[in-house]
Amino acid sequence: MTGLHGELTVPGDKSISHRAVMFGSLAKGTTRITHFLEGADCLSTISCFRKMGIDIEKTDGEVLVHGKGLHGLSAPSEILDVGNSGTTTRLISGILAGQDFDCELNGDASIQSRPMKRIMTPLSLMGADIESIKGNGCAPLRIRGKKLHAAHYNSPVASAQVKSCVLLAGMYADGITSVTEPVLSRNHTELMLNYFGAHVNSIDTTASIEPEPFLEARDITVPGDISSAAYFIAAGLLTSGSEILLKNVGINPTRDGMLRICKAMGADITLLNVNDDGEPTADLLVRTSTLHGTTIGGSVIPALIDEIPMLAVMAAFADGTTIIKDAAELKVKESDRIAVMVENLSRMGADITATDDGMIIHGGRPLHGAEIDSHLDHRIAMSFAVAGTIVDGPLSILGGDCVNISYPDFYSDLYKLGE
Ligand code: S3P
Repeated sequence: MTGLHGELTVPGDKSISHRAVMFGSLAKGTTRITHFLEGADCLSTISCFRKMGIDIEKTDGEVLVHGKGLHGLSAPSEILDVGNSGTTTRLISGILAGQDFDCELNGDASIQSRPMKRIMTPLSLMGADIESIKGNGCAPLRIRGKKLHAAHYNSPVASAQVKSCVLLAGMYADGITSVTEPVLSRNHTELMLNYFGAHVNSIDTTASIEPEPFLEARDITVPGDISSAAYFIAAGLLTSGSEILLKNVGINPTRDGMLRICKAMGADITLLNVNDDGEPTADLLVRTSTLHGTTIGGSVIPALIDEIPMLAVMAAFADGTTIIKDAAELKVKESDRIAVMVENLSRMGADITATDDGMIIHGGRPLHGAEIDSHLDHRIAMSFAVAGTIVDGPLSILGGDCVNISYPDFYSDLYKLGE
């Protein structure tokens, strides 16, 4: 038998797993999280909240967070280590800004070069005391807890991390805090805070929160991560003779841009067992397809921002030209994903050019194996691992272990579908 076959349940959604630990820590009572993502990023979040006195039990696939309420955190006795995780850094900063203690947070080399002014600016507007210790707008950060003021913030970027940071700080403010973004970004914070009992109101691209909510512990089943499913969607579409079923994948409309673009490229993907309760999910039936190029830009970008490396690889295999635009945010992810995609796809023989806010790919050129540099970016490593299963010749990935950030069993899951 050729091609990829079988069923796969991808690990839990990374964004939702982070938030479940954070909000569970700030809720009263025990939050039970099922299908939690045990990737390094989410483990960083657990470790930070443990250092602030929250008892978090972890068994295989389940996490119990014994929350102490909105004002139950205690001062950590050491620096909070956020590892490689931008979500941990930016969301936790919103929480820390309103505490009655001071602390420092720091992470790896990648985190120390990622922009934090985007959260320092709105938090300062709310009266927070947050400082980049090296004065370069990046971590390490020092946050001295303060009484916060309500504010409205017009964010120049469509970023769920910025939006969530402001909303979380808003829980500790003296009135209603709101944030407007240029395009709607993922709304997991809004949905989950309301599920815990907060009052978050969303109108168009503005979300506002009432202060001092009483958050009550809840059970959470984390859907499969569409950002992880993306690699298998691509592998199934590109490998001839494939038919795979990806079970229980999150299809929240603020995250489903990959599905919309796949369709525009001619993909055969059927949604089965759609469940619209809270965070919507579906099983995705993916069959080999002949893909053609498309334009990816505008309001869909935040809904597929993490899937662009995989989409760029797909575009290189597709017929015709793909233009990716309005995606300058790619430059400030775990790596500069525009430069790194151009570098690595060029090594494989693709016709790809960087632009200021994306890339242009003329697909259909014969691609070959190459030495790929992941730049320790998990999404780069996984995208090229998929490419490596399709091309002739060996493909090696420098720093390929970084998949443990979001998908520790990635290589074995990819292998299993091809057996
Ligand atoms: C995330 C938001 C996105 C995304 C990241 C996870 C989140 O980042 O790229 O992987 O969980 O809120 P931005 O908010 O910076 O766009």
